[in-house]
Amino acid sequence: MIQIENLAKRYGAFTAVDDITFTARPGRVTGFLGPNGAGKSTAMRMMCGLTPATSGTAHILGRPYRSLPNPTTHVGVMLDAGAQHAGRTGREVLGLAAILVGAGRGQVDSVLDRIGLTSREAERRVGNYSLGMRQRLGLGAALIGDPSVLILDEPANGLDPGGIHWMRELLRSYAQEGGTVLLSSHLLSEVEQVADDLVLIGRGRIVAQGTKEELLSSAGVVVDATDREALHAALHRAGFSPVARPRGGFAAQAGTAQIGELALAEGLVITNLSSSGGGLEEMFLTLTADDAREVAA
Ligand SMILES: Nc1ncnc2c1ncn2[C@@H]1O[C@H](COP(=O)(O)OP(=O)(O)O)[C@@H](O)[C@H]1O
Ligand SMILES: [Mg+2]
Repeated sequence: MIQIENLAKRYGAFTAVDDITFTARPGRVTGFLGPNGAGKSTAMRMMCGLTPATSGTAHILGRPYRSLPNPTTHVGVMLDAGAQHAGRTGREVLGLAAILVGAGRGQVDSVLDRIGLTSREAERRVGNYSLGMRQRLGLGAALIGDPSVLILDEPANGLDPGGIHWMRELLRSYAQEGGTVLLSSHLLSEVEQVADDLVLIGRGRIVAQGTKEELLSSAGVVVDATDREALHAALHRAGFSPVARPRGGFAAQAGTAQIGELALAEGLVITNLSSSGGGLEEMFLTLTADDAREVAA
């Protein structure tokens, strides 16, 4: 179980993670989804005690990561697969990780088997590994202490379709055995198939969360009004998770009738209202488009 409450990170005037709250539950895979720069890695580093939070709490199995006794036996972490020592072989990397967690030598072979690295590949230096092989090795290092919680930052990065399929199966069976998995991605397609629950983040804020079924089926609308600020505030108060769209207005998790009632109650003049079709995809595209616009600007 991972419990995040009102977690925030500010760098000077810039807010990288803005008051996020969610829970990743045992027996489930939770996808942490958002475009590049949304704040996923920063949030995950705070969960693992690598970056101090500006405010809020991140509890894993009921405690902050840093106060877990022998944390690697409870939590497997893969934050930056590129950071492994290039001069060591894959087997050495796992061997050292095994020593650190007090696991037996046999655990190295069992993990190598689980991550699909052959013994010949395990004897090669990590510097000569493909990104996909490094991702497998990083996942192996996370699994070596036989943890019940996995925190994985963009683990599918660099994997070919076969590798993504393999990872999906591994995480599924891990969750089926009762494990808690939190994995981040900037691609909806990568997490859509493996995640049970989704947390959608954009510009440091959670814009939607729920079970995958809820989010995929949620009817979304696109709405605009003469007074955008008042519209945004009203949508937010009503719990409709407004996300600003690049060409104006907001995507919101509500039906057209709900918006009509809200506009009447709040005295808003609506200038555009339409069903947006696929709720989650629309929301994600909007976030991504916003992001692209920032890069262009
Ligand atoms: N140490 C830092 N100092 C200043 N800004 C940072 C720092 N780390 C991350 N950021 C900024 O915080 C935002 C979120 O980054 P990050 O958490 O890496 O996003 P993601 O993992 O979702 O791509 C980005 O705009 C990034 O530039
Ligand atoms: Mg990141």
